[in-house]
Amino acid sequence: MFPEVTLTTPTREDVQRLAEWLNDSEVNEVWYGVGDDGKPLHASYTPEAVLNGGPEAWTHVFNDDNRIIFSIYSESGEHIGEGQLLVEWPLLEAQAYLLVGRKDLWHHHYGTSGMIGLLDHAFNTLGLHRVWVDIPEYNEPGMHMARHMGFVLEGKLRKTHRKNNEWFDSDALGLLAEEYPRRRARLLKTAAS
Ligand SMILES: CC(C)(COP(=O)(O)OP(=O)(O)OC[C@H]1O[C@@H](n2cnc3c(N)ncnc32)[C@H](O)[C@@H]1OP(=O)(O)O)[C@@H](O)C(=O)NCCC(=O)NCCS
Repeated sequence: MFPEVTLTTPTREDVQRLAEWLNDSEVNEVWYGVGDDGKPLHASYTPEAVLNGGPEAWTHVFNDDNRIIFSIYSESGEHIGEGQLLVEWPLLEAQAYLLVGRKDLWHHHYGTSGMIGLLDHAFNTLGLHRVWVDIPEYNEPGMHMARHMGFVLEGKLRKTHRKNNEWFDSDALGLLAEEYPRRRARLLKTAAS
């Protein structure tokens, strides 16, 4: 069985924890690395800037219909990661981002459970047509999880991710609404056996 996770609206404490996770080089190495100033990079927003930015900065990031951000909580009520859907409404599609920030929980299928939660929201709640992920070539765990979940390789993107001053290619992998129910059922069946 996959672990149960819950997707919730982020709190200030969650964003503070996220900043702490990203300060760990083992975590930021498989995510967006660090910027020229040596500080860890994050998808879509900078945790410290939001924490220091007052209510407007908070609303701008966390009340945006085009960028839906969830905290991921484990069955025991612990905050373990973050998921994002960057929605392109005219195309009914979203790019998904998922980080299990608690590295002690990697390889325990929390990533898979979190992505199922994000995909359920994208396809069943928002009614989107396609969800895709952009995974750099150095991110073996991310690639493995996406393929294992039934994302299909759609293309190779050139020099899209920068790490340690070097540009890396990435893979675009997508999943369509009509494919999702079967992939989801197959995944859950594998987990049950
Ligand atoms: C990628 C990430 C979300 C995976 O989370 P996780 O909870 O460790 O992954 P899971 O346990 O759900 O693993 C899914 C599959 O990938 C495999 N896998 C996970 N890490 C792996 C690794 N380092 N090498 C090979 N396989 C790996 C698992 O064994 C599992 O396959 P299985 O069911 O056949 O055993 C997590 O490593 C993470 O947050 N990384 C940083 C952010 C990131 O890369 N996000 C993905 C881009 S959207």
